[in-house]
Amino acid sequence: MQDSGRPYLLMPSGSYRLTMQQRPRRNRSTAAIRAMARETDLGVHNLILPLFVQEGEGESTPIASMPGQARLSIDLMVKHCEAVAEAGVPGIALFPALPDDQKDTHGTHSTDPSNVNLRAVRAIKAAVPELLVITDVALDPYSSDGHDGVVVDGNIVNDESVEILAAMAVAQAEAGTDVVAPSDMMDGRIGAIRDALDAAGHEHVLINSYCAKYASAFYGPFREALDSEPRGGDKKTYQMDPANRREALRELRLDELEGADWVMVKPGMPYLDVIRDFRDNTTLPVTAYQVSGEFAMLKAAGANGWIDYDACLLESLTSFRRAGADLIFTYAALEAAALLQG
Ligand code: PBG
Repeated sequence: MQDSGRPYLLMPSGSYRLTMQQRPRRNRSTAAIRAMARETDLGVHNLILPLFVQEGEGESTPIASMPGQARLSIDLMVKHCEAVAEAGVPGIALFPALPDDQKDTHGTHSTDPSNVNLRAVRAIKAAVPELLVITDVALDPYSSDGHDGVVVDGNIVNDESVEILAAMAVAQAEAGTDVVAPSDMMDGRIGAIRDALDAAGHEHVLINSYCAKYASAFYGPFREALDSEPRGGDKKTYQMDPANRREALRELRLDELEGADWVMVKPGMPYLDVIRDFRDNTTLPVTAYQVSGEFAMLKAAGANGWIDYDACLLESLTSFRRAGADLIFTYAALEAAALLQG
């Protein structure tokens, strides 16, 4: 078709007659045609549910800034995981909340097989073996400083932290985790963790690298949930500057070389361009995290009647898929599963 730039004729009467042959609306004209023209899909199999575990029995502590989410003791967590598997959500990402008296400068409880995180992994894998369990590798829940690495004289020291993180990953593998997920952003930790896992006979355990993890204010509600706010300073010397895009590709290249199986971008919706960059620059599965602050915003606006929560939720998750994410970590995984099946 010749494009004159004017898809209409101006009639002598002064009225317009449309002449264009390109009518994009034809592909939107019925639900069936829209389904055929749809470029991306969103399924329950794309979703991972992050969960918070705590000590106790029969304990469920709601998280105020994350409506519908709670820290669960292991017994309730196991029951919840049965429902998660039942709903078709293929995996969970586990985060522990430790009492203050179990936190110290070097996060020594992180490798203790009797800590709440590792007991939860064993209990979940025993009760619901088909549910994929992803465990977080970072010091913050175990650290009296609330940082992801060891703090020495106000600095987050890299190499000493990596050693602890590698040991933590091995402890998680021993407990039966399927995927370890370093969320700490220390340099070189993917390679060190891979070596440590392999040396301990855990070559089948996957690594989901939090590869481009930004120093984001959107983590606020999560830190409230775990009481893991840094006690001093911020995380800007290890998490990435939100202004940077090229730097994410550098992290991607390194994590690929070091043996990452999945590469994550976090947060999600404010960083869809980075998800797209990853999709275009790696053959690995790309994961993305709709973080606590994103979830809180959707919930708050929905609760006020300012947006249609269900519709905005599915739209936001679809945007992750369109940007190129294979797997999406979202606190709304169960709600989305219900909507997708309903
Ligand atoms: C820390 C960690 C954080 C999140 C996951 N792992 C917070 C942080 O880096 O301070 C945030 C997740 C969320 O906000 O939903 N290792």
